[in-house]
Amino acid sequence: MFTHKTFSAIAGLLLATSLSATYGQEPARYGFGTPVTQEELTKYFSIPADGRGLPAGSGKAADGAKIYADSCAVCHGEKLEGNPAKGIGGDKLIGGRGSLATKTPVKTVESYWPYSTTLFDYVKRAMPFNAPGSLSDNDVYAVVAYILSEAKIIKPTDVMDAKTLPKVAMPNRDGFVPDPRPELDLYH
Ligand code: HEC
Repeated sequence: MFTHKTFSAIAGLLLATSLSATYGQEPARYGFGTPVTQEELTKYFSIPADGRGLPAGSGKAADGAKIYADSCAVCHGEKLEGNPAKGIGGDKLIGGRGSLATKTPVKTVESYWPYSTTLFDYVKRAMPFNAPGSLSDNDVYAVVAYILSEAKIIKPTDVMDAKTLPKVAMPNRDGFVPDPRPELDLYH
C-alpha cells in the first residue's frame, strides 16, 4: 500500500530530480526530452479559488447561450439538465439547490460548487469534453456567465471577467466543513 511516508519519499525524490534539472547541474544525464517552451507552459494553468491568474477577456450570458448550444448542449442537455442517455453524457449543471443534506441530493454547479472561479478553470481546461482547450477565454467567460445566470446566481446582464467572477457568491460556499485528517499528521 502507498503510505503517506512512501508518497513523501517519492515526492521528495521527484522534487530533487526536477530541481537539479532546473538548475542545470546534470544537463545531459538522461539524454531525452526537450526544454519546455513558454508557449507550452501557458497551456498549463490552474486558477485557485480566489481567482488569481484569471486571464483578460470577458463574457456575458447572451453570448454564452450560443456557445452552450453549439458546444455543450449535446451532452449537458438543452436546459442544462444533463443528458445521461447520449453516450458520453454530461452532468446536470443547474438545480438541486438545498438538496445536498436531503435523502435525494442533486449535485450540480449550482447546488454544490463552492467557488465560481473553479467553473472557469474547469471549463477552460476540460470542456467541451471532446475538444478541451478549444474555447477562447472570452468564450469561457461567456459560457460561465450563461451557466451562472441560468442557475440564477448572477443576473443575465452581468459581465464576467477577472474582477467580477471571483466576487460571485456561490450558494454552497459555506456548505463545506474542514477535514484535517489528523491521522496523516501532515503539518506537525
Ligand atoms: C461530449 C460530451 C460533452 C460536451 C460536448 C461537454 N461536456 Fe461537460 N462534461 C461531460 C462529461 C462526461 C463530464 C463529466 C466529466 C468527469 O466527471 O470527469 C462533464 C462535466 C462538466 C462539468 C462538471 C460538472 C460537475 O458538477 O462535476 C461542467 C461544469 C461542464 N462539463 C461544462 C461543460 C461546458 C460549459 C461545455 C461546453 C463548452 C461542456 N461541458 C461540453 C461531457 C461533455
